[in-house]
Amino acid sequence: MTARAATAPPPPPGARPRHPQLNAEGKLTHLLTLEGLPAEAIEGILDAAEPFVSIGEREVKKVPLLRGKTIFNLFFESSTRTRTTFEIAAKRLSADVVNLNIGVSSTSKGETLLDTIDNLCAMNADVFVVRHGQSGAPHLIARHLVATGRHHVHVINAGDGRHAHPSQGLLDLYTIRHYKRDFRALSVVIVGDVLHSRVARSLIHGLTTLGAPDVRVVGPATLLPPFVESLGVRPFHDMRAGLDGCDVVVMLRLQSERMRGALLPSSGEYFKHYGLTAEKLARAKPDAIVMHPGPMNRGVEIDSPVADGERSVILPQVTFGIAVRMAVMSTIAGN
Ligand code: CP
Repeated sequence: MTARAATAPPPPPGARPRHPQLNAEGKLTHLLTLEGLPAEAIEGILDAAEPFVSIGEREVKKVPLLRGKTIFNLFFESSTRTRTTFEIAAKRLSADVVNLNIGVSSTSKGETLLDTIDNLCAMNADVFVVRHGQSGAPHLIARHLVATGRHHVHVINAGDGRHAHPSQGLLDLYTIRHYKRDFRALSVVIVGDVLHSRVARSLIHGLTTLGAPDVRVVGPATLLPPFVESLGVRPFHDMRAGLDGCDVVVMLRLQSERMRGALLPSSGEYFKHYGLTAEKLARAKPDAIVMHPGPMNRGVEIDSPVADGERSVILPQVTFGIAVRMAVMSTIAGN
């Protein structure tokens, strides 16, 4: 034990342990997960995103908030929306953006992830945006940065394994708030492959933290996590019953790349029971919105007339994603 640790005062009785994403002042310094993040921190990012939506509608879409900062996009898994919207967001904040080509980077030559991070820090990186197939990889990087005294370098989890996708969770929350205003009166239904979905996990944590009273998950038993009720949601296997009277429907893709063994008879059978059609959507409220994080598989989890219909907000989700990611980056770099 160090002398400093020996003389450090004990935490006051009842004190809550500090969240690993928060710095010594209690401010958000990394975005790793929405689990356990206080409602004020989530609401702060949603509020910060509002003006960035208007900036996106201007002719000149740039603001100088991150001028001089260097942001590295490290995507070890494929991405269309997340990687691109983080890049656009960083450029709109006037940062310099480097997209590392993982396929030809040193990790493919045997370099460890943390050695790659050390080398990029030697190039004066300010922010790492990380997508990785391994749950916990962004946490590992954040811990390494703290352990090596690089408190000024930030990590944003852009999706790790089946664990978390917090910026997607935030943009989903922003979209729901935009169309429905108050979380405290909402029924939100998440349909599909919840078991393998980091998107579902992050959204569930965000919704329950912001006080949504009725969050349901719908899917076959093979695609719902065991003890899913412990997350504060109600499970349904019958999609029509699960959709009854809801305000928001969130459809999920079947994550076949993360499935081991046959969890489903066929995609046709899946569509029959869990694909969102106009007939099934009629069980939701008449003004219910339809969301999907993408990529979308038409004819598997969603029918084209619904995906392209007037209740679909799937493309606005993408647009809001830029503003929300601008809010995330400016918030953590500002802290
Ligand atoms: N929603 C999402 O993560 O999409 P991408 O895989 O295209 O980034």
